[in-house]
Amino acid sequence: METHPHYIQGKWTRATGGKTFHSLNPATGKSIGTFSAGTSKDVEKAIEAAEKAFSAWSETPAPKRGDYLFEISRLLRKNKEKLATRMTEEMGKVLKEARGDVQEAIDVFEYMGGEGRRLFGQTTPSELKQKIAYTIRKPIGVVGIITPWNFPLAIPAWKISAALIGGNTIVFKPSSDTPRCAYDLMKIIEEARIPKGVVNMVTGSASEVGNPIVESPRIRGLSFTGSRETGKWIMQHAGIKKIGLELGGKNPIIVMDDADLDLAVDGILWGAFGTTGQRCTAASRVIVHQKIRNQLEEKLVKRTTQLKLGNGLDKKTDVGPLINEKAVEKSIYYSALGRKEGKLVCGGKPLDTPGFFFEPTIFTNVKQSARIAQEEIFGPIIAIIPVKNLNEAIKVCNHTEYGLSSSIYTRNIRNAMQAIEKIEAGITYVNASTIGAEVHLPFGGIKQTGNGTREAGIEGIHEFTETKTVYIDYSGKLQKAQGIE
Ligand code: UN1
Repeated sequence: METHPHYIQGKWTRATGGKTFHSLNPATGKSIGTFSAGTSKDVEKAIEAAEKAFSAWSETPAPKRGDYLFEISRLLRKNKEKLATRMTEEMGKVLKEARGDVQEAIDVFEYMGGEGRRLFGQTTPSELKQKIAYTIRKPIGVVGIITPWNFPLAIPAWKISAALIGGNTIVFKPSSDTPRCAYDLMKIIEEARIPKGVVNMVTGSASEVGNPIVESPRIRGLSFTGSRETGKWIMQHAGIKKIGLELGGKNPIIVMDDADLDLAVDGILWGAFGTTGQRCTAASRVIVHQKIRNQLEEKLVKRTTQLKLGNGLDKKTDVGPLINEKAVEKSIYYSALGRKEGKLVCGGKPLDTPGFFFEPTIFTNVKQSARIAQEEIFGPIIAIIPVKNLNEAIKVCNHTEYGLSSSIYTRNIRNAMQAIEKIEAGITYVNASTIGAEVHLPFGGIKQTGNGTREAGIEGIHEFTETKTVYIDYSGKLQKAQGIE
């Protein structure tokens, strides 16, 4: 089997040391290919390439940089079906969701390409006569991009598109669970004729490849999506650089007694079991008004037990596998815990077949402080927490260290507005599930979910640019601000 190489300085190159690793199809447990296991030497080479490419790329007018992004978007669209199929093979999500992942990548390259003709700053009056003030956006320099496997095209696309339109050059390390999707993206970037060295990819482990990227003082900006533990490590080791972190959630859906229950059930199923619960935005807590609790539970359990688990390539499949063996073990662990902390109403075990399958699982009667209601499981497991009223619902909702996505189902505008006002999260949905953010709006969370940056939308560009403030005095004399004579 051919080993998939790194992409450095526009060339496909093997890892220094020649080590390789496999990427497995989680629906079968079988290898889909071998990949280069990079080292710090490969990271060095990638940084060097990115440094070399920086001046020409950052001086390319932003609308021209945008043209490259449009071309990437076009090529992604042209290859959509193939990319989606290969994604399902590599990480298991059902084909229609894989298509959505590719679509998100198509959209964000298109959106960011358009931003090349805007990249707006601010223009404001000066305190002084014959003086103007404005801001411009400048690239950061060489940026590191470290991405997870759960959106193997969309998340790299969010980050790479924003970094490129901002004029940065890139060292990209994809997740070791989805190197082939990253390889596919690099092939498209090559075909779009992005200048050599502007985007470089090194595959391999967190310790051999991720850490040197984080620690390098030559990497001026860093964007990471992944676990909170890794996020903390990054904050401690990255030194002074611009850092963007997106670190998951424990996302609640509140269901009020006046909600359309069938709509709420649809939303819970989609939010909790879409991508097999492996989204940062996945719904993992259902906070339900006690008046309608039995009704909701009954409907939810009925629909959940009808979900068909299987290979994401099979049209009949509703829920695909988890990403790997470790993820199955984690779901087993939390299911055992859930049996003590609540009442199991459906699911709760892995499938006894090849691949990494775990049943959609619901626990009810869960207390807000239970570990299954606090810790991110990243699997198809939800905890139902009954409450008496909206105030209690919001309290329970905010009783978490995370703050990414959230949702409320209600027909009452006052409930909805109060929830929007009081829920501590970066995203709140009303009468819609916790997942499905769109690329032209900011995406990110508060509290332990991140460090205040947002991806996608205009704010996604801020993550990858510095603001320069410009003052131009055309009075021809010395003028002093702050009223100094
Ligand atoms: C993630 O899980 O990290 O809003 C990203 C959503 C998707 C992106 C999720 N558009 O669910």
